[in-house]
Amino acid sequence: MPEIPVLSTPRLRLREWRDDDLPAFAALNSDPQVMEFLPKLLDRSESDAMAARIREHFNDHQFGLWAVEVAGGVDFIGFVGLCVPKFEAHFTPCVEIGWRLAATHWGQGYATEAARTALEFGFRQLRLEQIVSMTVPANRRSWQVMQRLGMTRSPDDDFDHPNLPEGDRLKRHVLYRLTQAQWSSATLLRELPTNSRNIATP
Ligand SMILES: CC(C)(COP(=O)(O)OP(=O)(O)OC[C@H]1O[C@@H](n2cnc3c(N)ncnc32)[C@H](O)[C@@H]1OP(=O)(O)O)[C@@H](O)C(=O)NCCC(=O)NCCS
Repeated sequence: MPEIPVLSTPRLRLREWRDDDLPAFAALNSDPQVMEFLPKLLDRSESDAMAARIREHFNDHQFGLWAVEVAGGVDFIGFVGLCVPKFEAHFTPCVEIGWRLAATHWGQGYATEAARTALEFGFRQLRLEQIVSMTVPANRRSWQVMQRLGMTRSPDDDFDHPNLPEGDRLKRHVLYRLTQAQWSSATLLRELPTNSRNIATP
């Protein structure tokens, strides 16, 4: 089986899933605060089945929704990563970036920090042309992560999620996009001052 890449950030490790992540994953999937903008709370078997699908996605694509841990700290705080949605919409096929963290780990910049390294993996290693992200308009915390990542939304891209029934409170979604070109120029701008300093230093 191909090796799953481990991604590191200053505070986090994005790694392969382990069986001992499953209880903590089930705990966050049954937390109404975490699941407020997702279709339903998951029980233990539904949560385990989702983790199995995530691991299967890694086997199929060699990337996926990584298990996230705090380096030298908490073993599992949730997932952040890239996945290929199975449903059809005007922007599919595509690669989506997504996140779900235990509520006790919100408000520390972990989702954005993990997502930045996942985007870098997607654009540098996988050479993706574009990465998208989606959520419901009410999920402010989620679309704020998208905005912090430099992703942009066009109202023309708003869509009705095909997996949800008509009239469902979560049916309407917003879509954010980031192209390889946009990501590269933003990255270049971030790196420029460092490069200039290096050149100026004797
Ligand atoms: C969406 C989700 C991952 C966002 O988590 P989050 O903690 O709000 O997002 P970030 O990790 O980017 O953290 C940003 C916050 O950390 C703060 N922060 C604190 N220390 C920080 C640091 N060192 N660096 C950066 N930000 C820091 C920021 O100021 C910001 O605070 P604010 O929320 O008061 O504006 C989280 O709410 C979640 O898991 N929700 C449930 C699942 C879900 O809805 N997923 C999306 C489905 S589409």
